Amino acid sequence: MRQFTGLVFDAYGTLLDVGSVAAACDVRFPGRGADLSQRWRQRQLEYTWLSSLMGRHIDFWQVTGDALAYACASLGLAADAPTLAALRDTYRTLTPFAEVPAALARLAPQRRLVLSNGTGVMLRAALGHAGLLPQLEAVLTVQAVGIFKPAPQVYALATTHLACLPDAVLFVSANGWDVAGAAHAGLNTCWVNRSDAPPEVLGVTPTLVVRDLADLADRL
Ligand code: LAC
Repeated sequence: MRQFTGLVFDAYGTLLDVGSVAAACDVRFPGRGADLSQRWRQRQLEYTWLSSLMGRHIDFWQVTGDALAYACASLGLAADAPTLAALRDTYRTLTPFAEVPAALARLAPQRRLVLSNGTGVMLRAALGHAGLLPQLEAVLTVQAVGIFKPAPQVYALATTHLACLPDAVLFVSANGWDVAGAAHAGLNTCWVNRSDAPPEVLGVTPTLVVRDLADLADRL
């Protein structure tokens, strides 16, 4: 496998386990944590896409809170403001996937950065809590362009930062639709398929498919 000018990682779902909020959801709503966390994440993504299509950028912290409120309401869970605030705060302390810290270290000396929908504040909090910041050259956020993934201008943030052509970058994400967005923007892509999911049918094929980041480190 070739060297890249930079390895660019998605954050939520790729480095950080968004499913790790399920435990906190379950404490608040016993027996409903798994359902709530899944519906919350799905709505969070849908709100980013809708926000972009409506041309009305709302930051990801707000989107995360709005999606949580909707998810609770749609499941008939009565969540007061302090509960919503406490659950949203779990995004500051998401657990990294188990293999991520060691695998990121093994991928040095390649340049490693994050490109995410998150706000700079929430990304630095969570990546710092996970101990990953020392491994990262930069944390790039869609706030710089005011639109969410998979808009092409988001992926251009990576090539601008690295001062290279798109095909000198390897973009790594566990979100298949995010991989498709990056591929359509001309980047090489690596799909992290931890759950043995079927590939997205979105007109592109990832450059590489791996089981997890340890697998990626082996392959590179
Ligand atoms: C992100 C979303 C895709 O981190 O999870 O950008």
